[in-house]
Amino acid sequence: MIKAKIAELLNSDQFLQEVEVNGWVRSFRSNRFIALNDGSTINNIQCVIDFENTPEDILKRITVGAALNIKGTLKESLGSQQSVEVEVTSFNILGDANPEEVKLTILSPKRHSLEKLREQAHLRIRTNTFGAIMRVRSKLSFAVHSYFQQNNFHYVNTPIITGSDAEGAGEMFKVTGMDLNNPERDEKGNINYKEDFFGKETNLTVSGQLEAETYAMGLGQVYTFGPTFRAENSNTSRHLAEFWMIEPEIAFCDLDGNMDLAEDFIKYVVSYVLENCKDDLEFLENRLKDDEKTKPAAERSDLDLLAKLKFVTENNFKRVSYTEAIDILKNSKPNKKKKFQYPIEEWGQDLQSEHERFLVEKHFKCPVILFDYPADIKAFYMRLNEDGKTVRAMDILFPGIGEIVGGSQREERLDVLKEKMKALDIDEKELWWYLDTRKFGTCVHSGFGLGFERLVLFVTGMTNIRDVIPFPRTPQNAEF
Ligand code: 4AD
Ligand code: MG
Repeated sequence: MIKAKIAELLNSDQFLQEVEVNGWVRSFRSNRFIALNDGSTINNIQCVIDFENTPEDILKRITVGAALNIKGTLKESLGSQQSVEVEVTSFNILGDANPEEVKLTILSPKRHSLEKLREQAHLRIRTNTFGAIMRVRSKLSFAVHSYFQQNNFHYVNTPIITGSDAEGAGEMFKVTGMDLNNPERDEKGNINYKEDFFGKETNLTVSGQLEAETYAMGLGQVYTFGPTFRAENSNTSRHLAEFWMIEPEIAFCDLDGNMDLAEDFIKYVVSYVLENCKDDLEFLENRLKDDEKTKPAAERSDLDLLAKLKFVTENNFKRVSYTEAIDILKNSKPNKKKKFQYPIEEWGQDLQSEHERFLVEKHFKCPVILFDYPADIKAFYMRLNEDGKTVRAMDILFPGIGEIVGGSQREERLDVLKEKMKALDIDEKELWWYLDTRKFGTCVHSGFGLGFERLVLFVTGMTNIRDVIPFPRTPQNAEF
């Protein structure tokens, strides 16, 4: 008797082998055919019951959602749907699922909207769609580590609670141990953080970059892969309050090297899932096709999911400076016809997602790397160019997603960095440790951050970021 996962059994040709398998009932028809799923694959295994010799009261308990242990013989299947099946010799109902109660949940076998599934995020993993998404997500995580480990990067764990604001955006969740009804106050009546748990103001990290930079200055090439938090109140299909970010940081590497790395990295992880998640991607491709049928023709994508993924792995990303991009946008049809919500008028403007999507989806029709942005719209740590007004920043824009990567070459010159901090009113004393990296063996270095959920969105063809993380955290929502 071999105890096996359904994924293994479906690939097996060991017919007549005695097998044991556990799983949940997806369907039960003609009092005879159980479709069983154990999460190892999108596909169910058919288990055929000898119903004539099974008591009626036991048969009644084989219902959608119930957990079963099945022992039987692996057989070549006569059905057209599958190549193997299990002829059941004995089975155990491990956990019942009352049909009356199942009916009230998303486990009931009918089409439920993604909104409905979100309300039952603890059960949605039993659906084909979420099984596929989360298996792809898992494989993508593995590919991330595999890429960096193969390329001599070291994995570092940067703190989740920090006293610094890496992006200078001021959109952070506070961390405190104080009694909010009765916080410690100083003589002036202000909250006295000296009396708080850490003796200072702290928050959940928005990025591990600054700490990763210090590690790159010793380990050479590092990457983080961990949760990050943003308290921005943007209720969009691309923003989460808690998301996972991958942040490589590389010593002795300039912006060109950084762009090469980002492109190579994305191509690797996408190729990896194309190779290793075939069944799930095929399922997601068909799901997307069905979904698109309900949309007006103009909104449908030209390429199917797999073709879109292959396109990314096989074509170069287009590299365009911010200045060139502004020219293209300024002279574009939607801008001239006043179709943009934020018209492009002058150099220096920040780009909105409508502009990014125009460049990627309409103009270049491929992933785009925009670089050399105006200093004024980017973070303090980016390296100032010789022109004195642009910085060595890069954003990677993806079709259907918009910004997927944000990165830069870092300002390695102590005096320039200090000046920039002064201009932005960033306290040198708070970042004394960061400035030390520029005092002791400073060097050209670069890095970027890739939003993991945006990558999963792209790869799975899903359209709402809430559907590619198990339990999304968004404004007004922290259920589960
Ligand atoms: O562009 P961002 O803010 O860059 C940084 O945090 C840098 N410190 C990264 C670095 O250079 N090491 O964020 C990086 C990426 C974005 O391109 C986007 O993909 C993702 O993180 N991201 C979000 N994903 C989901 N929800 C949000 N609220 C996100 N904010 C950023
Ligand atoms: Mg950004």
